[in-house]
Amino acid sequence: MSSSLISAVCIPAVSSTTLSVGEWPSSGLYVVAIGWGTLQEGGSTSTTLQQVTVQTIDSQASTCSSLLNNPQLQFCAGVSGGGKDTCKGDSGGPLMMFTTSHQWVLVGLTSYGIGCARADYPGVYTRVAYYQDWIRITTSGAYSNATSSVSANIDPFSSKASIKFFHNQPLTHLLFLFFSLLLIKIYLS
Ligand SMILES: *[C@@H]1O[C@H](CO)[C@@H](O)[C@H](O)[C@H]1NC(C)=O
Repeated sequence: MSSSLISAVCIPAVSSTTLSVGEWPSSGLYVVAIGWGTLQEGGSTSTTLQQVTVQTIDSQASTCSSLLNNPQLQFCAGVSGGGKDTCKGDSGGPLMMFTTSHQWVLVGLTSYGIGCARADYPGVYTRVAYYQDWIRITTSGAYSNATSSVSANIDPFSSKASIKFFHNQPLTHLLFLFFSLLLIKIYLS
């Protein structure tokens, strides 16, 4: 199941040590949520799929800790000052992180929040890494492990990151070289 528009997301492959000694994902990482939920608090749901980039927040942060029932199973993500968030109807949907091996990995499941996009009220997400073994057993082989658990920590949808990302592609390098040589040839002829 893969095309230029759709592909399977990877399951985290995080060691039990990593899970027990600290938070995974750690705080301050760019993560992307998608969904057809409401476009604002009290608004109506979207007819087109939306995406939003937020950042993971330390479970002990004052804006987060009181929202969580269990920091082992949950974490917060949002943006400073509010304005970007998941909302009603997005629950159950994916929260994804882009890794250093250029894969998307499912780090969270949209769970709940107080209102939407309010300053100092981040969204709460299920910590998928905690359930990775259960997911493997339950999907009995119909999954892909993430090959890296390290975040590239870029927002792949910001224009700067896209330029950086595409410049890392060998094909783009070749095309760039080709057009540069063509221009030099035109200039010299
Ligand atoms: C995925 O990773 C887990 C944990 O490291 C491992 O037990 C499992 O065999 C891997 N599965 C595949 C399909 O690579």
